[in-house]
Amino acid sequence: MLNFPFAMETVLTKDPGEAAAFIRRGGVVAFPSETVYGLGANVFDERAVTRIFAAKRRPADNPLIAHIAELEHIADLVEYVTPSAAKLIDAFFPGPVTVVLKKGSRVPLIATAGLDTIGVRMPRLALAHEFIHACESPVAAPSANLSGRPSPTTWQSVSEDLNGRIDCILQGDATDIGLESTVVDCTRAVTVLLRKGAVSIDELRRVIPEIELHDATTPGPARSPGLLHKHYSPQAKVVIAREPAHESDAFIGLHEPASKVWLSRICGDVGEYARVVFEFFRECDRRGVETIVCEPVEESGLGSALMDRLRRAAE
Ligand code: TXA
Ligand code: MG
Repeated sequence: MLNFPFAMETVLTKDPGEAAAFIRRGGVVAFPSETVYGLGANVFDERAVTRIFAAKRRPADNPLIAHIAELEHIADLVEYVTPSAAKLIDAFFPGPVTVVLKKGSRVPLIATAGLDTIGVRMPRLALAHEFIHACESPVAAPSANLSGRPSPTTWQSVSEDLNGRIDCILQGDATDIGLESTVVDCTRAVTVLLRKGAVSIDELRRVIPEIELHDATTPGPARSPGLLHKHYSPQAKVVIAREPAHESDAFIGLHEPASKVWLSRICGDVGEYARVVFEFFRECDRRGVETIVCEPVEESGLGSALMDRLRRAAE
């Protein structure tokens, strides 16, 4: 991992053109998408991509997703598009789905953490589209948090982690979905769901009926190294339970708990829960909460992705 002193001014802007100019000059820029905020650089610029890893303190074995605004750019990133990937692209681009394919030779290995595959995603948020389009190249981007912290869903949370460490933050609204994209490995005979997200396995099955769920217990090299790292976690301890145990606990869920706690967030539905959970984690850390109790939800649709993130945070 690179270590250099960070003392740069981080420019805040609402103008996607101004933000994209930094990328064209080799800079790193945080930008909103419909899932979470990303931290982007020109995917073909090895030096710029290195700066993403340094700014986030991201382990070098965790690959980045390449973001595009135009379908034509897929050809610059991958060797070929497999039939399963073509179906997913047709059904879900632009949207919260990342397809993993064999990487093309132009993509530097640092972007894919040494893998011969690359994740490709086309965000559907209009501001993200305008920004990536103006970058004039695909944008490599992990979530815009310090490694190990919850993904940021507001530009203020990006700033909390990365102010002074990156060139620019493109200021958009709080993100719509609040959880990261669904990641699907399309490189092999059997298509595999690697990371759950807003697009559920049932929706994927409508397009690829034979898709399989990734089983982390299968021996052999990890298909998605990033999933092995500690993720999505606040400093506070996370417990999945229906009721808080202490008055000093924080609570987030769909139902008012029976006992009083000093900080709680009751959500109207699973969509709202997913949208606000990472921000709630951060709020708890700002206030020095020791334990966050998260109510479990039904494991279907978005609830399945939400439970995945809660479990990782509770590990
Ligand atoms: O919604 C999202 O996906 C957000 C926004 C910014 O697009 N990005 C995001 O990136 O969540 P990040 O870096 O936090 O997560 C990327 C994860 C990696 O940790 C890994 O699990 C998987 O995507 N991934 C990326 N490239 C891969 C590859 N070539 N093979 C397998 N998994 C890959
Ligand atoms: Mg991340």
